[in-house]
Amino acid sequence: MSLSKEQKSILITGGAGFIGSNFVHHWSNHYPDDNVIVLDALTYAGNRQNLVDLEDRQNFKFIQGDICDRPLIDKLLKEENITTLAHFAAESHVDRSILGPDAFIQTNVIGTFTLLESFRHYWNEQGKPEDYRFLHVSTDEVYGSLEADDPAFSETTPYAPNSPYSASKAGSDHLARAYFHTYNVPTIITNCSNNYGPYHFPEKLIPLMCINILLGKPLPVYGDGQNIRDWLYVGDHCSALETVINKGKPGETYNIGGNNEVKNIDLVTLLCNLMDELAPDLPVKPAKELITFVKDRPGHDRRYAIDATKIKTELGWTPQETVENGLRKTIEWYLNNQDWWQHLLSKEYQDYYQKVYG
Ligand code: NAD
Ligand code: DAU
Repeated sequence: MSLSKEQKSILITGGAGFIGSNFVHHWSNHYPDDNVIVLDALTYAGNRQNLVDLEDRQNFKFIQGDICDRPLIDKLLKEENITTLAHFAAESHVDRSILGPDAFIQTNVIGTFTLLESFRHYWNEQGKPEDYRFLHVSTDEVYGSLEADDPAFSETTPYAPNSPYSASKAGSDHLARAYFHTYNVPTIITNCSNNYGPYHFPEKLIPLMCINILLGKPLPVYGDGQNIRDWLYVGDHCSALETVINKGKPGETYNIGGNNEVKNIDLVTLLCNLMDELAPDLPVKPAKELITFVKDRPGHDRRYAIDATKIKTELGWTPQETVENGLRKTIEWYLNNQDWWQHLLSKEYQDYYQKVYG
C-alpha cells in the first residue's frame, strides 16, 4: 500500500476506551482518507461497541491485542506502514490502581516501553522520516497535588505523582522523553486534565453519578467534597491532540486543560440540577437528595489545575466548551444510550463497586 504525502496511516492504541474511541471518531471524520488502525486489548474498559459505526469503512481496522506484545507491534507497524502512533492504551482509574497496582505497571510502563522500542527500530529502518510521530497521551496527575493558592501546573512543574496510577504514567512519560533525547525518536507528550463526555466508563465521577441518579442510587462523594479538578470536554481534548500531531514539535510536552476548576461537590450538585431538568421520571427528585459523603480515597490529591498557555501561544489551540454545555451534551448522550451503559453493569462492575464503596 502506498500513501500520498498528505495521507497518514495512524495506529491508535486504546482506541476502544473512552478518550481513544472519541479520538478514533474525531480523526476518521476529519481525515476520511487516512488509514485508521486501532489496537486494543479489550480489557473491562475497552468496548468494541464504541466503534461499531466505523467497522464497515475500508480504511478502518480493529485489532484485538496487547501493547506488551512486541512481535505483534513490530508486525503492525510494518504491515500497516504506520506514520503516526497515538498512544492512549492504559489502565486509567486511580481507585483500581489502589486496589491492584500490578496491571498499571505492566500496561502503562512495560506496554509504553514495548511500543517505544518497536517504534524506534521501525523508524530507523524507514530512514528516520521527519514527519513520523509518536504521540504519548498522558495526564496532569503526574505533577501531584496543588494547594489552594499554588499556580497551575506548567510543562516545567516537577513531577510528584501520588498514586500507583500517576506513578506509572510518570514512568511512561519519562521513557517517552528519554527516547527523544537519546535516540531522536519523534515523541511528543501531552498532559491533560479530567475529561468527560460520551463513552465514559461508569467508574469515573461524572458517568457514575449520571447512572446512579438514573437508578436512584446514592451519589458517593469522597471526603469533604472540596477536592478540585479541571474539567475538559473530550471533544476539546481530541481537537488539542489533532493540533499537537499536526503542529507540535518532537521532544516537547504540551499541557492541555479546560480552564474549568470546579470543586467535586459543586460539580455533583450541578449535575443533579441538570438531571432534574433533562431526565424524565427520575426515581428520586430533586436528585441532590441522593448525595452521600463517603470515606475518602487514600492519598486523594486535593487540587489539579492546568496552565495551558504553551499550547495556546505556540500551536493556537484553546478549548471551546463550557462545563455547563458540555455536561448537558454528556447527560443527553447517557439518556439516549441507556443500552450502552446497562451492558457495562456486569458482575465484574458490581464486584468492583462493592470493593470501593462497600
Ligand atoms: P480507558 O480506561 O477508558 O481506556 C483504556 C483503553 O486501553 C481500553 O480500551 C483498554 O481496553 C485499553 N487497554 C488497556 N490495557 C491495554 C493493553 N495492555 N493493550 C492494549 N490495550 C489496552 O482510558 P481513558 O480514560 O480513555 O484514557 C486514555 C488515555 O488518556 C490514558 O493513557 C490516560 O492515562 C489518559 N488520560 C485520561 C484522562 C481522563 O480524564 N480519562 C485525562 C488525561 C489523560
Ligand atoms: O486528571 C486526569 C485524570 O482524571 C486521568 O489521568 C485519569 O485517568 C482519570 O480517571 C481522572 O482521574 P481522577 O481521579 O481525577 O477522576 P475520577 O473521576 O476518578 O474522580 C474525580 C474526582 O471525584 C476525584 O477528586 C475523586 C472524586 N470522586 C470520584 C469517584 C469515582 C468521588 O468523590 N466519588 C466517586 O465515586
